[in-house]
Amino acid sequence: MKGIVLAGGAGTRLYPLTRVASKQLQPIYDKPMIYYPLSTLMLGGIREVLLISTPEDVPRFQELLGDGRQWGMNIEYCVQDEPRGIAEALILGESFVGDDNVALILGDNVFYGNLRILEIVENFSTGALVFGYYVNDPTRYGVVDFDADGNVLSIEEKPATPRTNYAVPGLYLYDSTAAARARALEPSPRGELEITDLNLAYLSDRALRVQLLGRGLAWLDTGTHASLLDAAAFIGAIQTRQGLKIACLEEIAYVRGFIDRTELNTVVDTMPNGPYREYLEQRFANE
Ligand code: G1P
Repeated sequence: MKGIVLAGGAGTRLYPLTRVASKQLQPIYDKPMIYYPLSTLMLGGIREVLLISTPEDVPRFQELLGDGRQWGMNIEYCVQDEPRGIAEALILGESFVGDDNVALILGDNVFYGNLRILEIVENFSTGALVFGYYVNDPTRYGVVDFDADGNVLSIEEKPATPRTNYAVPGLYLYDSTAAARARALEPSPRGELEITDLNLAYLSDRALRVQLLGRGLAWLDTGTHASLLDAAAFIGAIQTRQGLKIACLEEIAYVRGFIDRTELNTVVDTMPNGPYREYLEQRFANE
């Protein structure tokens, strides 16, 4: 399976933080936001990733992440010159994905807990899979309704009167028909190719499944100054308690077998002295 990270948008709600660096480059505690969704793909065993962002921000992501070699990955880049919607990412990524399946994740979506993403990726074969996460205010999200057997009955984008409290997080698994389906979509009233409309296209072919995420999993919001602070406090609290880092990409690359011990040492050697380097030096010191 290939991965696409969509890190677009103007980040207007976070202005002036986003005057120079995009939303997905902002810190969540001790790492740039983009590390977290990237870590979710890596935990899913995905090594080939296309990062899509604005013309201004693609060079900044390239500077931060490079070609991914240091993590045993291949990261490519693509410009979305106008914010024409999340579903456009599948069209932009069409040649990158080819005949493969694809996991699309939004660059501001942070998951923490046992998502069992490796198992989910390995078991995925056709159609589309979305997730459902119980939230307090579903009107801000895509909202999924489903029957007792887990079949999707409806998905609505930011409904005024939601049928359920289950929001659809920005992590979607699609088969190789996604790009063709996205190309057939009409822009919504806000001028975007809506990801919800793509999911509805799968639903009308009875090819959409939903997997509910349990209460033991955190899906964090990062869209406002207050939610950014909450996310940072959450990550900081768990990391401090355990002494283990969340979304440490070098650690995940090593644990997932993307890089070996020598390659891990090589990448650590490039880091300045400080807590991040010390963490990695000590993490596997007894192995
Ligand atoms: C987008 C999607 C929405 C989804 C959300 C998850 O919303 O349109 O369906 O629930 O991402 O983060 P947006 O971020 O564009 O408001």
